[in-house]
Amino acid sequence: ESPFLKFNDGSTIPQLGYGVWQVEDDVAEKVVGLAFEAGYRHIDTAMIYGNEKGVGRAIAASGLPREELFITTKLWNGDQGYQETLAAFDESLERLGLEYVDLYLIHWMTPKAGKYVETWKALVELQKSGRAKSIGVSNFTLEALREIEEATGVVPAIHQVETHPYFPQAELRAYHQEKGILHESWSPLGNNSELLAEPVLAEIADKHGASPAQVVIAWHLATGNVVIPKSVTPERIVQNWESLGVTLDADDVAAIDALDKGAEGRIGGDPAEADYR
Ligand code: A2P
Repeated sequence: ESPFLKFNDGSTIPQLGYGVWQVEDDVAEKVVGLAFEAGYRHIDTAMIYGNEKGVGRAIAASGLPREELFITTKLWNGDQGYQETLAAFDESLERLGLEYVDLYLIHWMTPKAGKYVETWKALVELQKSGRAKSIGVSNFTLEALREIEEATGVVPAIHQVETHPYFPQAELRAYHQEKGILHESWSPLGNNSELLAEPVLAEIADKHGASPAQVVIAWHLATGNVVIPKSVTPERIVQNWESLGVTLDADDVAAIDALDKGAEGRIGGDPAEADYR
């Protein structure tokens, strides 16, 4: 079983989950089923991934009790706005075939649309309704986190942002800790950059009888990040889950921390700029 971390709203989240970005809907049903067999109970999807229906079919087919599962989905940028958010949320629930999600996230702050504050107000309402047990955001700036808190008094439970050893997000992590916001890593393995080929990871992996990917996942766990590695490869789905058995010592963590490339380490979009619709 994965360790659980506690949200500022009292609920908990399994620290190791399974992400399905870039997984086709018809593949999602199969691989999410494999993830459940491996032991994962936390699945991270989004409206824009186009696979909520496949995830929903896998949930239904698993026969697992709903309360043992932790399901996250996300509001797409073009659906921001108070009423639009409420409507988009209903559609996500329907595609998933669920009566509630464990976590609903604003996918990107999308600064040029200027709607993330009213959108956050809709998420606060959804949490009150009980249909989103916990609420959070993804791809926000520190300033925007402050803004939504000031407007509503509600601090997000979690912030999902690009995080891996090349781009560990020290400044945001410190702010999250101060505010009791959990830090969740997307593209935790560096999304096919040269990260997994770093010699220092091979050395640490050899020492622990593990793979470089397992060492990176273990680094996220040791750092306190919620982590959602994606793979459509059956052996890797299992291998990534087995990272739970890899315990790094302080020297290993420090050596991996030293891979930080600063702003150069970013692989995906910058929340302050990104305006995907
Ligand atoms: P695949 O899905 O073909 O198995 P990230 O989560 O950082 O975005 O990285 C996802 C990428 O990393 C995917 O291309 C995935 O490939 C690959 N990947 C996932 N798990 C492993 C692993 N254990 N070893 C090597 N590559 C992996």
